[in-house]
Formats: sequence, structure tokens, C-alpha cells
Amino acid sequence: MKERILELTNKYFDEMVAYRRDIHQHPEVAYQEERTMGVIAKALTEMGIEHKTGVGGYGVVGLIHGGKGEGKCIGIRADIDALAVNEATDLPFSSVNEGVMHACGHDMHTAGLLGVARVLNDMKDEFKGTVKLIFQPAEEKSPTGGAPYMIEDGVLENPKVDAIIALHVWPGIETGAAAVRFGPMMASSDRVNIKIKGRSCHASQPQDGVDAIVLAGQVISALQTVVSRNVPPLESAVLTFGVIRGGKIYNVVSDEVILEGTMRNLNFAVRDMMPKRIEAIVKGVTEGMGGSYEFDFSPGYPPVVNDPAVTEHVYAAMQDVMGDKAVIAPHSALGGEDFAFFGEKVPISYFWLGVDSPHIKSAPIHNAGFNPDEQALSYGCQTLCNAALRFLNE
Ligand code: NI
Repeated sequence: MKERILELTNKYFDEMVAYRRDIHQHPEVAYQEERTMGVIAKALTEMGIEHKTGVGGYGVVGLIHGGKGEGKCIGIRADIDALAVNEATDLPFSSVNEGVMHACGHDMHTAGLLGVARVLNDMKDEFKGTVKLIFQPAEEKSPTGGAPYMIEDGVLENPKVDAIIALHVWPGIETGAAAVRFGPMMASSDRVNIKIKGRSCHASQPQDGVDAIVLAGQVISALQTVVSRNVPPLESAVLTFGVIRGGKIYNVVSDEVILEGTMRNLNFAVRDMMPKRIEAIVKGVTEGMGGSYEFDFSPGYPPVVNDPAVTEHVYAAMQDVMGDKAVIAPHSALGGEDFAFFGEKVPISYFWLGVDSPHIKSAPIHNAGFNPDEQALSYGCQTLCNAALRFLNE
């Protein structure tokens, strides 16, 4: 099987690169991926693959039915949206859309999945069941994302999806290598907004008011204990406030301070506990000092937790394609990824694909200089095909 996948991946490699460059040159941010959807639909039409456009926005869903009869259905997902970043790579196929760039490699994911479509369509007589190609918009649009809209639009039905796999290009790992984990892979990403309310008065007569800035100082310090004292030491958690805003004039006691932050977790129980502790501390500190508060917790992306059984297939596929360069990642990442919404409904598995070549030094993702090695398209395509066939034919 792996020889045939390699042969076909080689056959379609230049086409994958051409798709990648075209999509890279014409990036579109979340909820605006109309042209990208058109490119995908045209490609699938040329391949003779049945598909539906406009799923959950500008999403596309393609189906490849195996020639060996009824069986399971595996989804393979690629996100397709770009970022509001001004490209600084000097590539000949740099973005023509000012202020928009494929700085997270979703162009690689999309082109790679078109390669997968080619290869598995040519190999359809060699599997039973169905491959569902899921081209998902709006991954970057936290906290909503794009996956929930595709789910609402029925992407997991007709036929019912039994598992979904995906990859993300990963600077810091060399081309021809990849990493996966059994269990948590990416973190939840939730928003925490706090409004601390005091009462203003003349700066020289603090006894007449309630100083919201002093309250905020106490709240920020006290909230450090949520991670250090309430989260079990062997679990990961982040509580970062990136915004603090309050006060109007230097000689008036401030009546209001806004704190805006993000909370990250790998564990559902810790994610459930933290907002309760945060609010209890905010309430205790503000009310104890004569103020009041408003607390707004907005759940965003859940953690990406890899299903062990599906990940067995993905890991075996990675090893088939990349040998001992396919590894278990030593730790999870605390970035968010809306692929997690699929994981709330069906077993998922997600891995990191290396894109650092010795010749092309890649900047980090979301950086204006991000420039993944296109050779990685081959390893990604082969691994996804291999894992899908293992899952369907097991
Ligand atoms: Ni991304």
C-alpha cells in the first residue's frame, strides 16, 4: 500500500505545489474564503469527485466511495483560511491581497488535502467505506471558529463520520519528520473578561471612594494563585491578562478597570474548575474592599484530545512514511485549534508535520516571514492517505 501511495503522491506532487502557490498568492481571511472555495470545487470537479460547496460558510465537502463495498467513513480535514498579516517573504507567489497572508500554513493543508483527494480517488478500488474530504473555513476566527458551522450544516452525517484526522504544519520540526500524541495535543482557548467597579472621588480623599485600580492590583495578584494553588501541579494551565484598562485623570480615584485575558487548558476538568475559582476570587477581593464586579467567561475552542485508537493508525502511518523521524511529541502545545469541536462529536487524531528544511529557514507560524518547505506536502499527503486506508480497511 505505501509504495502505491508514494508513487501516486509523486505523480501529483507538482500539482499540489501549484495549488499551494495559487492559494498562497490569493489568501482570504475567515468568513471570506469564497475564491478559495472555488479553487477547491474546481479541482474536485476536474478529479470527478462528488462534492458540496457552501457547507458552514465557504466550506467544501467531498466524498470518495471505496470500491470494496460498505464500511466506515473517515473524515480528513484541512482548514482553508488565512490571517490578517502583511506578508514579508519575498516569495515570487507572495500574497496579492494587501494585509492578508497564509501565515499559518492553511494553504499547505488545503493543497495537501487536494493531493490526498487525487491519490485516494485513484486508489478507491483498494478500500471499503468512504473518505470524506472536509475543507473547513474560519479556523482562525476564535472564539467561534468554522467547525461548529460545518457540524450544524451536517458535515458529520450522510454518511455518518466515524473518525476525523488532520495535520498542522509545524516549524521547529524538520521536513520528513512529524510528531503526534496519544491524548491532549492542543489546548482550549477561552476568554475571561472582568470589569472591576469602584467609586470615584478626589485623589486626595480616598476614604470617600473605592479605588478600582487598587482593587485591580489585588485581583491580578490573587488570580495568580488559581494556576499555582488550585490547578494540580502535573496539569498545564495558563491565565494571562493581555489587557488592563482603567482610570481617566491622574488626580481622580478610578471607578472602573477592565481586565481581558485568555485561559488555556489541556484537561476538561481543570477547564471547568478554573472559571469558578477566578470568579470566586474576583468576588471575594472586590466585595471585601467595597467594590463590585462583572465577570464574563466566553468558552472558545475546547482542547484537542487525540483518540488513542485512531491515533494508533495515524502513528503507524507516520512511521510507514517517515520511519524513526515519526515520534511521540514530548509535550502538548497550548495554542488553540478549532478542530477540537469535531472532537466533541467523533474520535479525532491530529498531528504536527515538520516543515523546516535545511535550505529554507522557516519563521514561526503567524509570523509575516513564515515560509514552510513545500517538500512537506508529500509527507503530509502520504501520511493522511496511509492512515485513512488503515482505518477503513482494519
Ligand atoms: Ni493554523
